[in-house]
Amino acid sequence: MRDRITPLLTEAQIRARVQEMGAQLTRDYAGQDLVVVGLLNGVFPFFADLVRSMDFDFDVSFMQVASYGGGTESTGEVHILKDLDRSIQGRHALVVEDIVDTGLTLFKVRNLLKDREPQSLKICTLLDKPSRRKIEVPVDYVGFTIEDHFVVGYGLDFDGKLRNLPYVGVYHP
Ligand code: XMP
Ligand code: MG
Repeated sequence: MRDRITPLLTEAQIRARVQEMGAQLTRDYAGQDLVVVGLLNGVFPFFADLVRSMDFDFDVSFMQVASYGGGTESTGEVHILKDLDRSIQGRHALVVEDIVDTGLTLFKVRNLLKDREPQSLKICTLLDKPSRRKIEVPVDYVGFTIEDHFVVGYGLDFDGKLRNLPYVGVYHP
């Protein structure tokens, strides 16, 4: 599997960028009532590094959604596999995602969370593939903008594997 990967972002590049993002989030949110919402599974390494670079007190909570349909591309219909374990009503919510591709998943998640009446709702992603977007969704914090490649590592998988790689690479099936 690993022989099919071309490196794209090194561990050091990711670390430096995540530190910058954490510093920015600290400037933007310190002193406010914030819930940082991680979208499982892909977000786990990014989430762990990001929240540890945010230097103030906040809540974390996780959500897992799945697309209906079973095709390789999201259909835009999502259902909740695991819901948040705390309320975001009247609080600031920051959704953290590994990658925004077509935007369909985040669009649905965003609407779903907006119905719970947070004081604010923003989106933070490690990777953004804007050339693939099918629906416009505001992404407030982006780690890296990338070309239309299928990427793996640092949480991103191929067939459930390779999430544990400490770097991000392009996978050539
Ligand atoms: P949307 O709805 O924005 O879906 O199309 C985003 C989700 O699709 C997955 N995804 C990827 N997973 N390498 C991956 O391992 C990729 O290059 C890739 N592009 C999209 C991912 O689960 C993300 O949350
Ligand atoms: Mg994902």
